[in-house]
Amino acid sequence: MGIIHVLDKSIAELIAAGEVVERPSSAIKELVENAIDAGATAITIEIQKGGMSFMRVTDNGCGFYPEDVKNAFLRHATSKVQKAEDLDAISTMGFRGEALASIAAVSRVELLSRREDAVEGVRYVIDASEEVSCEPAGCPVGTTLVIRDLFYNTPARLKFLKKDSSEANAVTGIVEKIALVYPHISFRLIRDGEEKLHTPGDGQQLSAIYAVFGRDFAAGLLPVDYTMNGISVKGFVSKPHKARANRSMQNFYVNHRYVKSRTCAVALEEGFKHAVMVGRFPACVLDVCIPAQSVDVNVHPAKIEVRFENEKPIFDLVYFAVKNALRTGDVTVEGKIEKSVAPVRQKDSVKERMSAQEFQRIFGEKTAESIGKKAGESSSFKAAGAQKPEKKDSSFLLSALEDGSSKWISFDVSPSHSENGNPAQEKGKVYSPNHWTKGRLLDVEVEDDLLPQRLSKENTSLDEMPAVSPQKSVSNSVPEEKEEAGSLEQQTIDSVAEPYENLRYIGEIFHTYILFEGENRLVLVDKHAAHER
Ligand SMILES: Nc1ncnc2c1ncn2[C@@H]1O[C@H](COP(=O)(O)OP(=O)(O)OP(=O)(O)O)[C@@H](O)[C@H]1O
Ligand SMILES: [Mg+2]
Repeated sequence: MGIIHVLDKSIAELIAAGEVVERPSSAIKELVENAIDAGATAITIEIQKGGMSFMRVTDNGCGFYPEDVKNAFLRHATSKVQKAEDLDAISTMGFRGEALASIAAVSRVELLSRREDAVEGVRYVIDASEEVSCEPAGCPVGTTLVIRDLFYNTPARLKFLKKDSSEANAVTGIVEKIALVYPHISFRLIRDGEEKLHTPGDGQQLSAIYAVFGRDFAAGLLPVDYTMNGISVKGFVSKPHKARANRSMQNFYVNHRYVKSRTCAVALEEGFKHAVMVGRFPACVLDVCIPAQSVDVNVHPAKIEVRFENEKPIFDLVYFAVKNALRTGDVTVEGKIEKSVAPVRQKDSVKERMSAQEFQRIFGEKTAESIGKKAGESSSFKAAGAQKPEKKDSSFLLSALEDGSSKWISFDVSPSHSENGNPAQEKGKVYSPNHWTKGRLLDVEVEDDLLPQRLSKENTSLDEMPAVSPQKSVSNSVPEEKEEAGSLEQQTIDSVAEPYENLRYIGEIFHTYILFEGENRLVLVDKHAAHER
C-alpha cells in the first residue's frame, strides 16, 4: 500500500504561508509593498507587542473594487501579472498573488477599503483563511488592513518568534529601509502608541534619510547620481570619515526594491578602497535603476535577493559611481583639534588670536611659513590663555595634546593639495582621501567608541575652547604596555620623535589624524591617541 497522499488544503495553506510570512516584519513588508503598488502617497503602520497581537497598515492608494476583495485573499490571485511574459519584466513590488492569502492563513484579518469613485467601501473579515463577513462600509479612500493574533493557529511558528522588542525592531528596520527610497511617500510608524518614524514625503531623498537616520548621518553624505551603459544608480554614500564599524548601514536597492547584493557591496567597498581605514565600512543608500527585464526578482521568497542578467555592468556602475562621488563631492574635513582631559574647564576667559610671530615661535619658522602659505586665507590658528607655549618646534603640537591640563588647542585650516600627488604645494586644491593614500598613509584602525565623542565635539564653538599648555614631550609619555593599536601609535609617535623642525602641517583627515609633511616622509599624529595621553 502506498504512503503518499495529497495534503489537506488547510495544511498546504499553512506550509505555503510559512514561506511568505516568517515573522511580523515580513507581513508588514508585504502590506506596505501592496500600499506602494496601490499608488499611496501616505502610509501609516501601527503595531502593538512587536506586531504579534496587532498590526494595522493604512494607505491612501487606489483601494479595492468590492468584487475583488474575496479573490485578493486567494492564493495566486493578483492584479499585477497576467501572462508568463510579464514575469520577465516585473515593475511592481508584488507579483505572486500570495501575500494576502498567506497572511490570512495564519491570523485574523480585517480589511476596509474604498475606491475614489465609489460611494461606499467594503469591510471584509477573514480568520485563518475562513471568511467571517463581507459587507458594505463607510470608510475613507484607500485601504486599511488590520492583522490580529499572528500565528495564533500555528503554535510551532509562535515558538520561534523573538521577544516583542526584537520583532518590533525588525518591523522598524523594514519600514525604514522602504521609506529611504520612496521619498514622495510619507511613512508613519507607530509602535505601541508612540510615533517612531515620520517621513515628510516631500520627494527629497535626503529628507527621508534625515527622518530615518537623523541629522548627523544625513549631514555626512555625498550624493550619487551616475549613469553608465543605460543603467543608473542614485542615492548617497557616506563621506569617508563617516565610515562605520560594520556594514549594517549599507542599503542597496534595485528598482526601489531593498535587496541584499554582494556585487553592489563589493563594488561599494572597492570604490572606497584607500579612502576609509581598514576595518571601517562606508554607509550608503544606493538605488540601482535597471530595465526590469535585466533583473530577476523571482528568486527569494521574501524577494530580497535578485539575479542580474549580467553582474559585471552592475559592479562597474556602482564602483564608478562611488569613485565619482568621492572625486566630485566635498570630502574635506575641517581640521580641529580639541583637548579636554580634565572634566572641569579652565576658568580662562581671556582669549586671543595668536600673532604670526607667536605662531612662528611655537611651530618653527618653516612650519609656520608653510601653514600660512599652503592654507592661505582660510588658515587660522587660535590659542588662548595665560600660559604661552614654550616649545619652539612642531613637537609643541604633540606636547600640547599630550598635556594633562584642561586646555585646548584648535586649528581651522582648509587643507590644500597638489593634483600631481605632491601635498601642500598648491593653494586652494581640495584634498581627497584618495590623494592622501597615494602617499605613505598608514592603515590605522580607530576604536569605535571614540567616534560619537568625536562627532559630538565637532560642533563646539572655537570661542568656547580654552587654551593649551604644552609641557612634556610625547615620546616620554607613551605608555610602555600599549598593545596592538598601541604599537601602531608607538610607531607613529616614534617617527615623529625624530627631529621635526622641517615638518609642514598639511591638514587633518577622518577627524582623527593630523598630517605633517617632512622631507621624505609623511607624519601622522593620531590626535585621539595623543589626547588620551
Ligand atoms: N493596499 C492595497 N490597495 C489596493 N489593492 C491591493 C492592496 N493590497 C492588495 N491589493 C490587491 O490585492 C491583490 C493581492 O495582493 P497580494 O499581496 O496577495 O498579491 P500581489 O501583491 O499581487 O503579489 P505578492 O504576493 O507578490 O505580494 C493585489 O494584486 C492587488 O490587486
Ligand atoms: Mg503583495
